[in-house]
Amino acid sequence: MTEPLSMDAGAATVSKPVTFDRWLEHFRANPAHHRLIEADIEWDARSNLDEPTRQAFINSFQRFELGESGDGKRLLSKAALEGDPTYLAALELLVREEQKHSALFRRGLDHLEAPSLKAHWSDAAFTVLRRALGLRTELGLFLIVESVSMGYFTALAERAPDPVLRGIGLRIASDEQDHIRFQIDRLRQGFRDTPRAGRMLIGLAWGVIAGGAAAVLALDHGPALRACGLSPARYWRQAMVGFRRASRSVLANPGAEPMGPLAKDYR
Ligand SMILES: [Fe+2]
Ligand SMILES: [Fe+2]
Repeated sequence: MTEPLSMDAGAATVSKPVTFDRWLEHFRANPAHHRLIEADIEWDARSNLDEPTRQAFINSFQRFELGESGDGKRLLSKAALEGDPTYLAALELLVREEQKHSALFRRGLDHLEAPSLKAHWSDAAFTVLRRALGLRTELGLFLIVESVSMGYFTALAERAPDPVLRGIGLRIASDEQDHIRFQIDRLRQGFRDTPRAGRMLIGLAWGVIAGGAAAVLALDHGPALRACGLSPARYWRQAMVGFRRASRSVLANPGAEPMGPLAKDYR
């Protein structure tokens, strides 16, 4: 259900404040969900991938391990200036989940008997770009990267030719679905006072960046995508569909009700 941009029957525009209590609760409870998924992964099983496929996943996991490893310090210090302690606490837990993703890719590399990578240009370029930006723009970039990466994680979860790699994909895809919803909820709040024309321009700029980010992922991780039965071109098209859905969720009606987290099993 959506709510109108203006909550005031009179002339002034008053948007209902977004609260992040449900999100904080979700991120606090989510480690139990992580343990449930991880308990189903047979970590000690030997990988019997052929050499080119093994190498494809090694290259791909090495890059994701780096990409997800940041401490989020700058992002969190920008968020701290916004004066919403609940949002900040939830974002801190999201950053911790990203670090766990990095550790999962590391575990995948152990499974593939391969080392970590020290640095990669795509990660370094993204880090430099993010540092120069304000919170809203940085969260916009996060949304772009998470929404275009989702197709890779889903392909990994569903069709990687190794059960441990499928488990890692499932575990990460399950978090990322919520990360995207979380970014959408905060970004909607950030765009509530932006006029429609401004939001349309932002949407165009995001689209260009998303196209580039998905192309880098398609090129960088092409062999791993193919090993999951997804051609890089098809991945790119699907990534753009996912990105557009996320981008529209933010920009078409920023006054909409918060999405909140998906229902999860927290036994
Ligand atoms: Fe992640
Ligand atoms: Fe994420």
